Amino acid sequence: MLLEGKSIIITGASSGIGAAAAKMFAAEGAKLVLGARRAELLERIVNEISADGGEVDFIAGDVEDSGYAEEMVKRAEARFGGLDGAFNNAGATGNIGPIPDMDESNWHRVMSVNLNSGFYAAKHQIPAMRKRGGGSIVFTSSFVGHTVGLPGMGAYAAAKAGLIGLTQVLATEHGPENIRVNALLPGGTMTPMAGEDAAYHEIVRGFHALKRMADPSEIAQAALFLLSDHASFVTGTAMIADGGNSINKL
Ligand SMILES: NC(=O)c1ccc[n+]([C@@H]2O[C@H](COP(=O)([O-])OP(=O)(O)OC[C@H]3O[C@@H](n4cnc5c(N)ncnc54)[C@H](OP(=O)(O)O)[C@@H]3O)[C@@H](O)[C@H]2O)c1
Repeated sequence: MLLEGKSIIITGASSGIGAAAAKMFAAEGAKLVLGARRAELLERIVNEISADGGEVDFIAGDVEDSGYAEEMVKRAEARFGGLDGAFNNAGATGNIGPIPDMDESNWHRVMSVNLNSGFYAAKHQIPAMRKRGGGSIVFTSSFVGHTVGLPGMGAYAAAKAGLIGLTQVLATEHGPENIRVNALLPGGTMTPMAGEDAAYHEIVRGFHALKRMADPSEIAQAALFLLSDHASFVTGTAMIADGGNSINKL
């Protein structure tokens, strides 16, 4: 099993990519602390994993709160004896629209949930991983803001691109301590974030070389690789798992 015995935090675990990752990582032997705001959804996933014999706990909270990031690390240490990995995956697009029309409050909220959360996570996770002699951190970024400029998504693009800069600095700061840090850049993925508009899905499918959107488990597989020892020489990357979205022009 790829994550046998590893203690791992997953944020955004109540839905979509994070929920798929929770089930996959548990099946690969990880001990998990799951996070998101909706406790009832987390509880359902915890019950499913526990019924299959997995070791899992959860804390409901908001990733915009540094204290919540700290609490999750403390829970991993108390329940599982330490922290080996983190999939910092929670995120939100906020309101879509051109920058001149965007409220300052939307800009700050999108930065807060997507980028400030990454700072809080790393701030508390790295000291815990240091105690274990190493670890792996994965941030969910996006093709938006890295290889594609999507109109209306200025705040989201800036926040997700910011995570790549944070990834690079953390990888160099903590590489000597055997802590790897990577950003994962999914393409369009069929989760609640993608909405339910079939006509929009058709357009998004067309953006990709593979002419389809990802199943959340396909993105979770990429995160699984980055968190596992199979990625032992992979750090500081912006790893694209986007179905050819970035290189597709027709
Ligand atoms: N779907 C795509 O096409 C796509 C493409 C590229 C990147 N991404 C990124 O992939 C990640 C996962 O998104 P998804 O597609 O799986 O969408 P999703 O199903 O909407 O999941 C988003 C997750 O983030 C959590 N979350 C949002 N705001 C939060 C907050 N303030 N505090 C704590 N948790 C919060 C949500 O949980 P609660 O609501 O319960 O808090 C939920 O579990 C996001 O970072 C997203 O930006 C998605």
